[in-house]
Amino acid sequence: MRISVIGVGYVGLVSGSCFAETGNQVVCMDIDTQKIERLKVGEIPIYEPHLQEIVKNNLQEGRLEFTDDIRTAIDHGLIVFIAVNTPQDEDGSADLKYVLKVAENIGRCIEKYRIVVMKSTVPVGTCEKVRDVIQREIAGRGIDVPFDIASNPEFLKEGMAVDDCMKPERVVVGVENSRVEEILRELYSPFIRTGAPFLVMDLRSSEMTKYAANAMLATRISFMNQVSNLCEKLGADVMKVMRGLGSDSRIGPKFLFPGVGFGGSCFPKDVRALIKTSLDAGYNFSILEQVMEANHAQRLHFFDKIRGFYEGDLKEKKFAVWGLAFKPNTDDMREAPAIDIINRLVEEGATCRLYDPKAMENAFSIFSGQEAVSFGKHQYDVLEGVDGLILLTEWLSFREPDFERMKVMMKELVIFDGRNQYNSKTLTQNGFRYICVGRPNV
Ligand SMILES: NC(=O)c1ccc[n+]([C@@H]2O[C@H](COP(=O)([O-])OP(=O)(O)OC[C@H]3O[C@@H](n4cnc5c(N)ncnc54)[C@H](O)[C@@H]3O)[C@@H](O)[C@H]2O)c1
Repeated sequence: MRISVIGVGYVGLVSGSCFAETGNQVVCMDIDTQKIERLKVGEIPIYEPHLQEIVKNNLQEGRLEFTDDIRTAIDHGLIVFIAVNTPQDEDGSADLKYVLKVAENIGRCIEKYRIVVMKSTVPVGTCEKVRDVIQREIAGRGIDVPFDIASNPEFLKEGMAVDDCMKPERVVVGVENSRVEEILRELYSPFIRTGAPFLVMDLRSSEMTKYAANAMLATRISFMNQVSNLCEKLGADVMKVMRGLGSDSRIGPKFLFPGVGFGGSCFPKDVRALIKTSLDAGYNFSILEQVMEANHAQRLHFFDKIRGFYEGDLKEKKFAVWGLAFKPNTDDMREAPAIDIINRLVEEGATCRLYDPKAMENAFSIFSGQEAVSFGKHQYDVLEGVDGLILLTEWLSFREPDFERMKVMMKELVIFDGRNQYNSKTLTQNGFRYICVGRPNV
């Protein structure tokens, strides 16, 4: 099949490459010309496991092309995916300016039948808006070109995006006729050979499914963080409680780890957008307000633990921070808890030396210019002479560190673990003070 993808970010690049990997002829288009030039020579602008190989392979095989020309993209694909960003607007709603700009461009360039598929996360009713914009532009040209509109929300997880795309747990499509359903079913058939469901519904239900999924996952995280905070007060161990909870098949073990709150480019903005959609529809989705509030409070809660350890005085304290990305296996720092926590530490007079296996470039653009923040090249070199180590993202390389080496480098042997990575016994045996979440400190 001939596929075009508009917007070559985490979603567009991964899904475009995966479509090429299964033999389709794919053109990926973005307005960011620098990004396109890098991609043309096989340079990947983001970190995502296995992405480099499949982009390079499909470029070499001639199945994947990159362009900054919208007309080339619209001429190429029978199916045109929209995968541009839908950031948060000032009032919390999803800002649709990029999506609607693409719709306008499609309407201006379309010459023959196309299926326009919305992959960006968009509020209920957006596909209809996009259809109206395309129709308006076509009518403005005084011609008539048939097209269909479909919704196909993306459920990939950053850090596992290629795997999720190649082996999705389900594919959701919102369509208005069986022709589009059949074409999308064929496109996805190589990805769901092992029996993952292909769920066909109307446009609005498909759009809603994506928001409901993210809101549910965010709710689980905030719920578990509050269970963890209560465990601290009652002397229970949240990790034991988590296992007890997660073994109930009605609950399941995933997304129960307590920590420093959720971040990333999706959960915060999508929950806020769903709150706004609900209010606009005259409904108060009250539980989601609490989810966001609890998430914000969780970051402060962890910061307060650090401050509390020093009896409220962080002046001139020197910290190493391990982990900056909003989760492991990605370089993405959008709305990462690390940003808030580091800013609070600095506001109170501390200095922070940062290290993340993949997010250093993004960290640099966020914190450069701040005197109290510096950047390490290696997880151990940031430890030199520090009063404490703060772990914020659970990268595998932080799981079993060389405690002997750390002991020699750190001035004070204190670890603040926002992700409960360590065994408190091992740490006390090594002479560390250990402050974690939802478990007794040692
Ligand atoms: N990142 C995720 O994990 C994830 C997962 C599921 C769904 N989503 C959703 O997918 C969408 C894309 O997210 P992302 O993380 O890939 O975004 P991103 O910011 O990484 O990439 C978006 C790309 O779109 C490009 N763009 C903007 N306007 C354009 C235009 N008019 N024409 C062509 N290109 C244009 C930008 O230059 C950018 O490269 C969002 O709606 C997001 O909510 C993201």
